Amino acid sequence: MELLDKLNWRYAAKAMNGENVSEEKIDRIIEAARLAPTSSGLQPFEIIVVKNQAIKEAIRPVSWNQSMITDCSHLLVFAAWDTYTEERINKMFDLTNEVRGFKNEGWENYRQMLLSNYPQKDAEENFNHAAKQAYIAFSAAIIAAAFEGVDTTPIEGFDPAAVDKILGLREKGLKSCVLLPIGYRDTEKDWLVNLPKVRKSTEDLVTVVE
Ligand SMILES: Cc1cc2nc3c(=O)[nH]c(=O)nc-3n(C[C@H](O)[C@H](O)[C@H](O)COP(=O)(O)O)c2cc1C
Repeated sequence: MELLDKLNWRYAAKAMNGENVSEEKIDRIIEAARLAPTSSGLQPFEIIVVKNQAIKEAIRPVSWNQSMITDCSHLLVFAAWDTYTEERINKMFDLTNEVRGFKNEGWENYRQMLLSNYPQKDAEENFNHAAKQAYIAFSAAIIAAAFEGVDTTPIEGFDPAAVDKILGLREKGLKSCVLLPIGYRDTEKDWLVNLPKVRKSTEDLVTVVE
């Protein structure tokens, strides 16, 4: 199947059947998220993979009681940095130097530019910027799952503060921003499964400037 066939096949599953997704597939889906591009390469987020059924049960009531939370195989919680700190920025720049094995003046100047800008900003503004980066990885995971023939439901319908509490995220300087149950669609129970995909036309989406 071509990628576009798979993207047409995927949809936001409204019911999942509890079937387990293999760890190999989950690993490849997470790897796609890890490889996603981010602003300045900072990857300012973490991904919590919830396999524990009791934790899923605790998250469901604070997620509009959406059944996919408990009927999925793995629940991914995308949690962004609560702010940008010098330590966090330096860690990623140091990693780049370590992996590439050299220091580059331009890169070091860029580091100083970020250090003199980001940590001083309002934490909420920084979190919002970090959350945008998390969404890029989230999107990569959705596409990778479709590629694997695995269903997902992107979920913003939840109480982030409650999920943060259940997972102890604030103590780690993280705030949840979006959830992704991964599993298999329940074709009997899902009202959406056979309905056509609705998207605006390319003409309405795209303006070409020649
Ligand atoms: C960021 C985001 C948050 C969403 N939150 C929810 C949600 O809480 N519950 C739900 O059932 N669907 C949710 N959706 C699914 C969208 O409604 C769905 O992706 C959209 O209608 C397009 O349909 P499709 O994904 O089935 O092609 C969300 C989608 C995105 C991208």
